[in-house]
Amino acid sequence: MTAESPRRRHFASDNYAGMCPEALAALVQANEGHEVSYGNDAWTEKASDLIRDVFETRCEVFFVFNGTSANSLSLASLCQSYHSILCHELAHVEVAECGAPEFFANGTKVLLLEGADAKVEPKAVERAVNKRTDVHYPKPRALSLTQATEVGTIYSLDELQAVADVARRFQLRVQMDGARFANALVALGVTPKELTWQAGVDVLCFGGTKNGIAVGEAVVFFNPELAREFDYRCKQGGQLASKMRFLSAPWVGMLQDGAWLRHAKHANAMAQRLESALRQLSQIEVAYPVQSNGVFARIPARVVQGLHDRGWKFYTGVVTPDESRLMCSWDTTPEDVDAFAADMSDLLSK
Ligand SMILES: Cc1ncc(COP(=O)(O)O)c(C=O)c1O
Repeated sequence: MTAESPRRRHFASDNYAGMCPEALAALVQANEGHEVSYGNDAWTEKASDLIRDVFETRCEVFFVFNGTSANSLSLASLCQSYHSILCHELAHVEVAECGAPEFFANGTKVLLLEGADAKVEPKAVERAVNKRTDVHYPKPRALSLTQATEVGTIYSLDELQAVADVARRFQLRVQMDGARFANALVALGVTPKELTWQAGVDVLCFGGTKNGIAVGEAVVFFNPELAREFDYRCKQGGQLASKMRFLSAPWVGMLQDGAWLRHAKHANAMAQRLESALRQLSQIEVAYPVQSNGVFARIPARVVQGLHDRGWKFYTGVVTPDESRLMCSWDTTPEDVDAFAADMSDLLSK
């Protein structure tokens, strides 16, 4: 690919991609005529009902503009300011939200846990809760888990249940950052209810953007009590869209015929293809198990530069300084993957 190439798909982020056709078609349809504002419209009702169908329960659903607000506001709804939120040290809520969870929760402290492959382990939760139980320490009240994780790994159902069980034992509420929930779901081949409320998840930030929507995530409360007055929290946080139908209609397009699952499966398959290609190259090391739509790899610095010079965009140093992050999207093609791998192979041979 040359720097002048008119068609350009990159591996920098799954949010580099545009809208998928299903989300776009629904958005165009929603644009017709007038609709009631602030979420009291037919599209929002339909999208919420579809989400209830997907999860097979009467959950409370709220549409917000992005993942940072979904995480921050949902976590704020689980905690008082004197509480703390446990999460992995690589969690998006810790490393990529500019302190928004603490801000929206009025100072609730985020406490960090270590764990292989960016996953929280039950023992780490237990240790953190038992570390201090006196009044001088911010009382752990919430556990935030990212599914799929920031390095593209996935909690198996057993792992999820085990960690959520410990959370329950210590009266921690469980929030799931599901920016890539669809990718995790299709990779595991389980049902949405198994991966959430049946495993002990109280609230899910259901990712739409990385799955093919332009803007927006759904905050899904499986415990309705925790959703009380969440509409006020959204409004105060600047997350109540007046023309809500433009946030919710794309969800209808995604959910009504399973596009969300098809796109996630495709993105995961592209990551598998990329991983296979990279594993053919002896100087490249794949850093984590490839389980969703991202591949993390150690690529010699001169090759990283060479790929950038050839016009490929991707990030290096998101997790550790020597790892490059290669994300696949709903619109990544096998040809994109093959062209990227061919460029890498060519640069390695020089
Ligand atoms: C794990 C995870 N959570 C949440 C988000 C959402 O962030 P944003 O506020 O950019 O929509 C992202 C986006 O990169 C993410 O990777």
